[in-house]
Amino acid sequence: MKQEALLRSYFIAAAITLLVQPQKAVAIDFKEEIRPILSDKCFKCHSGPRAKGKLRMDSDDNFAKRIGGDDPVIVPGDAVGSMLAVKAGLPRSNGDAMPPPPARERGSEPMTTAELNLVKKWIAEGAKLEASEEAPAEAAMAATVHTWVNTEGKKLEAEFVGTEGANVTLKMAGDKVINYPYAKLNAESQALAKKLAAE
Ligand code: HEC
Repeated sequence: MKQEALLRSYFIAAAITLLVQPQKAVAIDFKEEIRPILSDKCFKCHSGPRAKGKLRMDSDDNFAKRIGGDDPVIVPGDAVGSMLAVKAGLPRSNGDAMPPPPARERGSEPMTTAELNLVKKWIAEGAKLEASEEAPAEAAMAATVHTWVNTEGKKLEAEFVGTEGANVTLKMAGDKVINYPYAKLNAESQALAKKLAAE
């Protein structure tokens, strides 16, 4: 019983966290987060003009040739099917694993599960080598405050968080989150909520 109550409070806490967090996650930055992993685990054989398997990861121009296109090791958006993620995720005993199995290559360490998951997430997000202009870290931090007007003409300054059933979730100064009935907003604010929810 006690555990059940604990679990329930955990789920409620998680639901609130989801509600409060901004909807747009910051995209994974290749240079900051992915390149160091590749450098650590793959560059030994996949850098320089004599890179193995015609897969050169240390030069963006060269690496980009194997992302999408005719002979891809990465298919943007396909984290599960991309050859690079598949090979990096194979058990060390598998002859196709990357780095090559210890019997063939001693001293080369595979990606950790956390590293592989990050790489997969990056592929799922489109495997961009350049930082995305749509979601730079600064812009994602500074959410826009809108003016909301209800049917009685009362104004409220708040960030848009999301829509929840018949409510619009808004975040006011001091991070106070409220669920406001959609029907009580004036037409203009209803249209604004619709537009922001679709973004
Ligand atoms: C010790 C050397 C070595 C390391 C380290 C290494 N690789 Fe390789 N890789 C190779 C060799 C050799 C080939 C070509 C022959 C083969 O496919 O087994 C290759 C081929 C590949 C290919 C296939 C390219 C193609 O078009 O066929 C992929 C994908 C790949 N490696 C990914 C990785 C990743 C990801 C890492 C880092 C986690 C990595 N490799 C680390 C030696 C290495």
